[in-house]
Amino acid sequence: MTQAVILVGGQGTRLRPLTCNLPKPMVPVLTLPFLEHVIRNLKEHKITDIILAQHYLAESIHTYFGDGSKFGVKLTYVMEESPRGTAGAIKNVEQYLKGTFFVLNGDIFANRNFTDMLKTHRKNKAKATIALTPVEDPTIYGVVETAADNRVKRFLEKPKKEEVTTNYINAGTYILSRDILAKIQAGAKVSIERETFPQLLAEGAPVYGYPSTDYWMDTGTTEKYMQLHRDLLAGKCEGYRFADDLMAGVKIKIHNSVVGTGKVIVGNNCFIAAGVVLNGPVVIGNNCAISTDTVISDTVIWDNTEVGSSANLRSCVIANDCLIPDNMSLNGVIMGDHIKPKPGGKIAAGARLFPAGCEETTP
Ligand code: GTP
Repeated sequence: MTQAVILVGGQGTRLRPLTCNLPKPMVPVLTLPFLEHVIRNLKEHKITDIILAQHYLAESIHTYFGDGSKFGVKLTYVMEESPRGTAGAIKNVEQYLKGTFFVLNGDIFANRNFTDMLKTHRKNKAKATIALTPVEDPTIYGVVETAADNRVKRFLEKPKKEEVTTNYINAGTYILSRDILAKIQAGAKVSIERETFPQLLAEGAPVYGYPSTDYWMDTGTTEKYMQLHRDLLAGKCEGYRFADDLMAGVKIKIHNSVVGTGKVIVGNNCFIAAGVVLNGPVVIGNNCAISTDTVISDTVIWDNTEVGSSANLRSCVIANDCLIPDNMSLNGVIMGDHIKPKPGGKIAAGARLFPAGCEETTP
């Protein structure tokens, strides 16, 4: 049975302040941890033996997913003492791998046809198959040039405009033959994109691309995290199309005067008071309370957060355990967890608010 390694050891610095106290795989998407969506996609294709290559804030992943049985999969957790990079992390789980296996960057949202990808890998007798996705501006990515039969000809990191010959980039999902592991140095920090794949190509190994125009989003930044929610609620990803405008969890109380437009998701145990306006895309997590006459538009709120009355939130992400005072107006604000702005205070549009003990870092 084909296995999968999910790389979940990154620090997610570009997603800060959202990842100050939570690893990227636990960041909620439509109220569920990001990783849960990835695991569901693998399970749909009967890939249930999954190895998680971890480093940063690993404990919360284990607490939520356990041995995986609740999710119908078997999870093996492997910890790196220090971050090994994308190839080093795969080398570090070598002892658990039995044959050809998938590798997934843990921060890619895609509804992937793993079954077809594996069939293609076998048909090509490839050593490595790299999922490819088209992007509008390939100059900020690593592009992958292929021949007509999709065999990889060249990797080009961040090409200049005049060098661009394809807009297909490495989509962060691979199938690898196990013998490739012998080429990765044990105990070292090695990048699969920048070192292992180019090395394979230089040696003449059969490396193939697997192009697909299906929905794909790298959720590495807060802007992309917001965009992912807009796209999912707009029905852009197969498997995530919602017929109803309001999707609510259990034990919620939504006053019948609540109005709005677009798609809205409200998690479990929430209270939405009279006169609230929710203009989708809006996602409100579990155990949240929104007080009277507040307007929320194009915003994602995580769990255990309260928003006071007559507040106005537009294009914001508000993490867990925040308290937004009455009458506060927030525009494009990214708020880390446990933040309680002062009543009457003003927060600049586009501000990023960091929880205590977590510094802003320039990636
Ligand atoms: P930034 O700090 O914002 O760049 O994010 P990141 O640390 O997650 O790095 P990046 O987005 O380049 O990582 C791509 C994927 O590889 C993510 O799923 C990471 O979790 C994972 N990853 C990156 N470096 C390592 C590593 O050293 N070990 C492991 N196990 N995973 C890694």
